[in-house]
Amino acid sequence: MSQTTTETRKWIDVAGADGIADGEVKTFQVEAYRVAVARANGQLYAVQDLCSHDDGPLGDGDLEGYGIMCPRHGAKFDIRTGAVLAMPAAAPIETFPVMEKDGRIYVALKDRGGDDVVADDSW
Ligand code: FES
Repeated sequence: MSQTTTETRKWIDVAGADGIADGEVKTFQVEAYRVAVARANGQLYAVQDLCSHDDGPLGDGDLEGYGIMCPRHGAKFDIRTGAVLAMPAAAPIETFPVMEKDGRIYVALKDRGGDDVVADDSW
């Protein structure tokens, strides 16, 4: 017996496109996830609003270029990839697909149907 799982992106409308200016970060609750959405060099990026060091609120941190700095202990992450740019964090953070369409900003989660929605950045 085989089981087939169809996974698709579930796009969630989070804000108006003019609500996030270049160089700005805003946080949103997207289903079960706290997500920080940033605009850098005109492009939108979305990462978890949770520092991998000790759960600091990344969305409250400063954005410099593509780096976002945790306001708690100063760890820095690349918003394009989630990679660690500065200690004390050692583990990367999760990223989410994000798009701008018809004047709205959408963040994607992976939708497996039902309530089993998980974030995924492998698309
Ligand atoms: S919680 Fe972010 S650097 Fe410590």
